[in-house]
Amino acid sequence: MSKTFAAVKGMNDLLPPQIEIWQRIEGIARKLFGRYGFSEVRTPIVEDTALFVRSVGEVTDIVGKEMYTFIDKGDRSISMRPEGTAPAARAYIENGVANTEPLTRWFYMGPMFRYERMKTGRYRQFYQLGAEAYGALDPAQDVEVISLCHEFFKQIGVPDVVLHLNSLGDGSTRPAYLELLKQHFLPFLEVMSPEAKLAYEKNTMRLLDSKEAALQEAIASAPAILDSIDEGSKQHFADVQRLLIKLGIPFELDRRLVRGLDYYTRTTFEFIYEPKSGENALGTAGTVCGGGRYDRLVHELGGPEKPAVGFAMGLDRLVLLVEKLKGIERAAPTLFIGTFDGPERDDAIALVMKLRNEGFDVDFDPRNGKLPKQKERASKVNAAWFAAYGVNEHTARTLKIDNMRLAPGAPKETVEVALDALPAWLNSKSKTPS
Ligand code: HAM
Repeated sequence: MSKTFAAVKGMNDLLPPQIEIWQRIEGIARKLFGRYGFSEVRTPIVEDTALFVRSVGEVTDIVGKEMYTFIDKGDRSISMRPEGTAPAARAYIENGVANTEPLTRWFYMGPMFRYERMKTGRYRQFYQLGAEAYGALDPAQDVEVISLCHEFFKQIGVPDVVLHLNSLGDGSTRPAYLELLKQHFLPFLEVMSPEAKLAYEKNTMRLLDSKEAALQEAIASAPAILDSIDEGSKQHFADVQRLLIKLGIPFELDRRLVRGLDYYTRTTFEFIYEPKSGENALGTAGTVCGGGRYDRLVHELGGPEKPAVGFAMGLDRLVLLVEKLKGIERAAPTLFIGTFDGPERDDAIALVMKLRNEGFDVDFDPRNGKLPKQKERASKVNAAWFAAYGVNEHTARTLKIDNMRLAPGAPKETVEVALDALPAWLNSKSKTPS
């Protein structure tokens, strides 16, 4: 026998029936994000490696350890995108979008790639639903994107998602804060791994994301950046909170929330799934959304001075939650038509196609086979009604249609419908019988 193949580790096939949850969530996103004024963009899967190094930051887990980077045939260093903010900013700058509109709101959905240690809800190819708003410095913009997330979770039916909020300041007080942080971590240098030492030297704030056991105590007692941010950012943060309260969006201040990417300024936030009771289906991968303001990135990447704020949600995690909480609502045919060998079979098939083309959910079994087998198939696909189409039905121009979803013990229910009247009957049944 020849060798069989497995998908690359950490990369999943998305198949029916779960794909129906993906499509439902994506459908809700398109509608809701559109209503909030966000338009879809699609950027390439791969980008110049330097784009991520410059934006996400060289001394971050994402760029330092997790990127799928390769040299292409033209000797360029290319990386599969680990996130969508940098590619969107690149596209925004490259296409001169700021010249044609002062305010831009984009969203995107698609696969991202990070070479991470896998577990439930954490994969090497995963899908993000993200949004980025360019051009507004006002706290109203921060709150608009947060409000979008809040409403989205409501619409897809995921409760117990808690908004964690922090501010990193505008950057002007960052050097003083980093000095403070260095002092704090100095006594722990000896127990640090070479990696953590590098972070200490080059990007001290990243130590706050470190998972190293020896550093956890030091991280817990580290000075919080919120205590050293500039006055303007304090006011901005107060305005964000005031507006969130006005909109009835609950939040928790989280002074440790520094996020694992370097481009953030001012507001940072995460939505974390924290069920009030029962086990957490996402385990320790409970962060379903992360985002914040990044007022310097567009300029740092060579574009105009444009403030921006955005977020990205982990779609894999949301699908997992929806499946656990609500199950899968499978689409099912309203009517399943059974066929027989013989010349009428062509007419039966033509009827199925005609009704489908008129917009009705009608199915049949292309294998033909014995009628009981076809009826089994109808049950399997959860058809609401079943009718055989043979020589008698063909001659009488009428179908005898059985209800396939009878309550246990209920008497058989059969209705007779003329072929001509089928569209009207199907219309009346498009809500499946109980
Ligand atoms: P992030 O926090 O790195 O932020 O990722 C956002 C979300 O993507 C996470 O909260 C999580 O739900 C999901 N995610 C991340 N890694 C994985 C993984 N390995 N497997 C499954 N899901 C994952 C960003 O990517 C920023 N670009 C967000 C942003 C947009 N900030 C401003 N604008």
